[in-house]
Amino acid sequence: MTKKPNPLDSISISGPIPAHLARAVIEETLRTAILDGRLPAGIALRQQDLADLFGVSRMPVREALRQLEAQSLLKVVQNKGAVVAPLIDYDAFETYALRLLLEPAALRLSIPLLDSEDIALARTYIASLELETDHAEIGRLNRLFHMALYHKAPNRKLLDLIELELNQEERFLRFHLSSMGLGKLTQTDHIEMVDAAQDKDIERAVQVLERHLGNASAVIGGYLQRLVEK
Ligand code: NI
Repeated sequence: MTKKPNPLDSISISGPIPAHLARAVIEETLRTAILDGRLPAGIALRQQDLADLFGVSRMPVREALRQLEAQSLLKVVQNKGAVVAPLIDYDAFETYALRLLLEPAALRLSIPLLDSEDIALARTYIASLELETDHAEIGRLNRLFHMALYHKAPNRKLLDLIELELNQEERFLRFHLSSMGLGKLTQTDHIEMVDAAQDKDIERAVQVLERHLGNASAVIGGYLQRLVEK
């Protein structure tokens, strides 16, 4: 009888891990293995197996799994425990579809109320995005830029919903940006959008925003499609 291959065999540990680094090492090791596909979607990660593998107690394992769950790389499934989340995140499509409904509405309401300080702030985010290379930071700056243009919309619930979607995008970009190449294209849109907002040209700003979100959705859709075909 052949033994069923264990995906954890693909993970090699070099020497004992100092206790104070255990959580970080486990988290980083598992994250890398999930993102490069050695731990495929749907695999259940048992705390005791991981504790044995890393030669640590279950406590740092539990903490590392919690971190990975917060990053949407793991999902907790009843009776199975922590399971590697599906790579194809249909949420990403839904996020863009919802953003296309919500953000133009907020932009329309916000533009008439934006003052020169708001415009200047939005431009500082564009400038920071130009220099930034860290993916987590790019996601954060993109969210702040968009919110700078929408935040005067006198509808707190609408803005809360948008922020929720932008947070999801931020998490997605954090892990996938390097493989997608969204970079400069989006910056051109950002500049055009802020110029239109400054001119109080609502229709042009909305048009650019819709194109911006449509392009991002298409790029992410193509990227996810290539992942399925791999
Ligand atoms: Ni953007």
